[in-house]
Amino acid sequence: MTTSIVDRGSLASRAVTLSARFRSVHGTNPLRISRAPGRVNLIGEHTDYNDGFVMPAAIDFYSYVAIGERVDRTLSVNSEQFQETVEFNLDQLAGPPHKHWSDYVRGVAAVLREEGYPLKGANLVIDGQVPIGSGLSSSAAIEVATAFALTSLGGVTIPLLEVARLCQRAENTYTGTRCGIMDQFVSCFGRQDHALMLDCRSLEATYLRLPSNVRLVICNTMVRHELAAGEYNERRASCERVVEAIRKFLPNVRALRDLTLEDLEYHRSLLTDVDFRRCRHVIKENARVKDAAEALKCLDLMRMGKLMYLSHESLDRDYEVSCGELNIMVEAARKLEGVFGARMTGGGFGGCTVNLVQNEAVYGFKEQIVCRYQARTGLTPLVYVCSPAEGAGDVAQ
Ligand code: GLA
Repeated sequence: MTTSIVDRGSLASRAVTLSARFRSVHGTNPLRISRAPGRVNLIGEHTDYNDGFVMPAAIDFYSYVAIGERVDRTLSVNSEQFQETVEFNLDQLAGPPHKHWSDYVRGVAAVLREEGYPLKGANLVIDGQVPIGSGLSSSAAIEVATAFALTSLGGVTIPLLEVARLCQRAENTYTGTRCGIMDQFVSCFGRQDHALMLDCRSLEATYLRLPSNVRLVICNTMVRHELAAGEYNERRASCERVVEAIRKFLPNVRALRDLTLEDLEYHRSLLTDVDFRRCRHVIKENARVKDAAEALKCLDLMRMGKLMYLSHESLDRDYEVSCGELNIMVEAARKLEGVFGARMTGGGFGGCTVNLVQNEAVYGFKEQIVCRYQARTGLTPLVYVCSPAEGAGDVAQ
């Protein structure tokens, strides 16, 4: 059987390979290499843009950006993954999304310029380890690594929280996804061995150590359903519509975060059934994140796992962002030894599940989940055993 092992390589060897690529593309050595991680979300899905609570961890899959100076006003960006180079004039970055990988880089540069940060012409090579389109936030990883690289070349240091905010804005404006702050925040602030619970309104983060007897195992369904970005924005619009409708009666309600289930029930007649269910998910999910933080603090993994399953069901039935493949993967995990909990992670419509698995059971879990998923879908999933990782930074060369 083929369980897929992903070799993430050592940091030093990554830097050497990336420098070699940089030389072959741009003819000089890079001045710096920055990196930023992807993330997995343990619980708290589609709550960030409702001023709610999330619990992501940065994972040891990084995007790398190598950068060197140029004398003109061009950004010449080469992608290792797409084997393509794109050039921009630093003074003409505005424009609608091109639906191209380079939107993330252009967006970050444009937002930094809008904020008045000095940018220099530069050569870049981007190399991402975060699987693209799998709900592990390769986009935030590229944005944050790009922001680090561009600002360090310009000789400016921006507070980390500002980096996260600007990268979120870049994604909203230049790629057309109206995402929340979760992915960019954890890519900046991730901590080894810890998840973090983030209050997306105050942006206060609490670090929660992951118990040492479990691993985060991520299972990639290998499907990505079309329309994901449109469906995402449509979910967000649903939430905003309900807030607008209810705040006429409850003026203190600024976001779904401020609504109770009782408020929602009381105003049910104002809402469509679909909007009602979506908001019910958000309100209950916020409560689950707080419960999950308590469960982790008390090392109550049974409770944590149960909350993960409940979150998945709610995302499937009420929020309607799961899909057949994700449900099959979660159901398969539920029946396996040593699994405390499983759920879809990220925006949905394909991508990955996150599984909380006892250390000793990880090997068997990998074998079994591949087998069972393959039998039901005919697809071979990728399985990644991850550790919570450090947030973005520069790589010593
Ligand atoms: C995507 C977005 C995040 C968040 C999740 C769903 O990853 O980028 O901001 O909304 O979906 O929880």
